[in-house]
Amino acid sequence: MLPPVATQHKALFLESENGPYIVKNVKTSDPGPGEVLVKVEAASLNPVDWKIHNFIKEFPLPIGCDSAGVVAQVGEGVTRVQVGDRVAHQGGYAVRIATFQEYTIIDEELVVKIPDSMSFDQAASIPVAVAAPAIGLYGDKVPLGGAGLIAPWQHGGHTEYAKKPILVMGGASSVGQYAIQFATISRFSPIITTVSPENKDLAASTGATHTLGRSLSPSTLADAVVAITSDPITVVFDAISTPETQEAAYKILAPGGTLVVVQDEAIKTKQDDKKVVRVIASGHIPANARFAKDLYAHLGDALASGEIKPCEVEILPGGLNGVAEGLERLKNGTVRAKKLVIRPPETSDL
Ligand SMILES: NC(=O)c1ccc[n+]([C@@H]2O[C@H](COP(=O)([O-])OP(=O)(O)OC[C@H]3O[C@@H](n4cnc5c(N)ncnc54)[C@H](OP(=O)(O)O)[C@@H]3O)[C@@H](O)[C@H]2O)c1
Repeated sequence: MLPPVATQHKALFLESENGPYIVKNVKTSDPGPGEVLVKVEAASLNPVDWKIHNFIKEFPLPIGCDSAGVVAQVGEGVTRVQVGDRVAHQGGYAVRIATFQEYTIIDEELVVKIPDSMSFDQAASIPVAVAAPAIGLYGDKVPLGGAGLIAPWQHGGHTEYAKKPILVMGGASSVGQYAIQFATISRFSPIITTVSPENKDLAASTGATHTLGRSLSPSTLADAVVAITSDPITVVFDAISTPETQEAAYKILAPGGTLVVVQDEAIKTKQDDKKVVRVIASGHIPANARFAKDLYAHLGDALASGEIKPCEVEILPGGLNGVAEGLERLKNGTVRAKKLVIRPPETSDL
């Protein structure tokens, strides 16, 4: 039996462009038709959480975009989930749908049911970091969408890319770890990735067949890729997408190929026959809503079968009060090969 839904709950807000982050009481929203109310048990931190003030200038700004928890209430017409289901989903930067809070609202079609064996902490690491490679590789060929590859759950999704090489820049990042897992499910081979030496084993465990040092110069990296395969590299997923990684990746990309980037495109001199796709990994934007619903309809099976495994997680103490320090660590680049997670119910009383 679930406890009754609280009429008020705690939520974290970025008060102004330069902070601070403040926990406040807010009214718990009712789910509308087709929506569910989720009691958030765990929420993971993403780089976008510390960058969001560059894009949205309305303050106080509710933040957080990854959640795992329990369905606490369903709106009219909801059929995919029911009260008590364990779910994960991607939220957004508005008071009803942000995830650094105790309750949040989401469209039922953007929810994924999580297996009983998976903790809420692990599940919270999944939605955004999975959406980036899933939408970037298989999403519709629309601005801010994807490369339009055949998704693993579609006809041909397990054969079309068999024995074709793929390069994933940044295989130890959360996004990179899931990109390698999708490349594995799509049967790309070889799967080449760049990591620090200490993350070679991690990259291999997610499915990478070859690891190269992330500090190699662009030309040494290109030579090292050619030494692994003489086949043209027609798909590159850059999970880091700094100007340097983008240039290095673009240099390796074969004519006719597609480079997927997760930050603003920064290639200085482009060629007509090499495509660059800048993905926004969100089912909340119209460009990707259709594909995201398709993804979430299939992701549950991949989690249950273990085809997609969660990243390592580190739990931050203090519930919502732990977010600020975690975001500082993400900003400083000191979080490596894992996801930081907070548990909103652990927030102390106001
Ligand atoms: N477009 C979107 O919608 C979207 C969605 C999600 C994320 N993103 C963006 O994707 C990027 C990654 O996010 P994340 O959450 O996956 O980050 P993360 O897990 O915090 O990334 C940390 C990892 O990045 C690796 N790394 C850093 N610089 C590298 C480089 N030059 N080459 C190779 N690896 C490098 C490090 O690997 P080593 O430990 O091996 O050194 C480190 O472990 C961020 O910029 C984020 O904003 C975009």
